[in-house]
Amino acid sequence: MTGFGGHFSTEAVPGALPVGRNSPQKVPYGLFAEQLSGTAFTAPRAENRRSWLYRLRPAASHSPFIALASTRLLRTAPFDAAPATPNRLRWDPLALAGPDCDFLDGLVTYAGNGNIAEGTGMAVHLYACDRSMARAFMNADGELLIVPQQGALTLITELGILEVPPLHIALVPRGVRFRVEVNGPSRGYVCENYGASFRLPELGPIGSNGLANPRDFETPIAWFEDRDEPTELVQKFQGGLWTTTLDHSPFDVVAWHGNFAPCRYDLTRFNTINTVSFDHPDPSIFTVLTAPTDTPGTANVDFVIFPPRWMVAEDSFRPPWFHRNVMSEFMGLIHGQYDAKEGGFAPGGASLHNQMNGHGPDRASYEKAIGAPLAPHRIEDTMAFMFESRAVIRPTKWAMETPAMQLDYDECWAGFSKATLPS
Ligand SMILES: [Fe+2]
Repeated sequence: MTGFGGHFSTEAVPGALPVGRNSPQKVPYGLFAEQLSGTAFTAPRAENRRSWLYRLRPAASHSPFIALASTRLLRTAPFDAAPATPNRLRWDPLALAGPDCDFLDGLVTYAGNGNIAEGTGMAVHLYACDRSMARAFMNADGELLIVPQQGALTLITELGILEVPPLHIALVPRGVRFRVEVNGPSRGYVCENYGASFRLPELGPIGSNGLANPRDFETPIAWFEDRDEPTELVQKFQGGLWTTTLDHSPFDVVAWHGNFAPCRYDLTRFNTINTVSFDHPDPSIFTVLTAPTDTPGTANVDFVIFPPRWMVAEDSFRPPWFHRNVMSEFMGLIHGQYDAKEGGFAPGGASLHNQMNGHGPDRASYEKAIGAPLAPHRIEDTMAFMFESRAVIRPTKWAMETPAMQLDYDECWAGFSKATLPS
């Protein structure tokens, strides 16, 4: 089923979905009706997200959750274990995991901002795992935007199954139970959004088409497993991990309808728009999804990509120029090379450029760009991305201490020749 935020109806067994009402006195087949809401009941219609789930047992049927002792590297806001740093940071690729590490154990938090208790901010995690989850997971703290870099993921969710290979992304709404299956060593990025959920950006003068088109977001059809076996369910709640064991699979939703559902998107379907005259537009032109705040145009987090595209600008410096921004930028690379860096920024790696601190092309990229003939040129085989936030992105202690940190990152901006004024 396709269409971002669309209202979907799906049933895995014919006749399972009630018709005409959400919670009839008797649901077909004795299924249990449950509303899963992602916004306040009274959120404006355009914002309102909720789905009705019809399942074999109520999700409420479980014994108490108990705290899960852990030495994992998963962290939650506020990120105050290490000082916020103005320095430009870059990391080598996260080491592949293994053996015997699932997606949940393989999450490593690099940075984040905001306050989980107040529902503001976000976290940036990378994951490395090599085996499928046997347990189920649910994140009460926020929505998950998953960006595979190596290895295809299969997301088994309450609302159906999503295949998510590299160059696709997945959105798992807050509270939706899921497990991640992999085929061998897998790695990627996750943005955990504590605030208002991701949506498509407004298009303004671009018009009614372009960037990520709503029809290209794919939502699963109902799928369930009728399995009466002990199944661990872990949830993340206010930063803590909690566990309980159900006597059945939590993936027992036989039918559902609504507009609060996981989805995936193929990044190669992004309709890239750019200048056909001169200059380098702001990277907001590459926004796939945005999670807004109460301040118009000032996102809690934007998800922005740098896909293959034609570069045709006349009399222009075509790569990103030097800049110092109020928004803070965490970047990752799915494959290929980013056009503002000749080296050092590798697939599976990351960089962080915080509020008001200068960055831009490295010296090699700069020299190449000012000398390049400005014929139409296609940037091929690349997919970099950015999680961009209104608030300073604070690295975790692990991120500041890992040997993957490139201690010589600043040197990529050293040695520029001083401008020469007329004497
Ligand atoms: Fe930047």
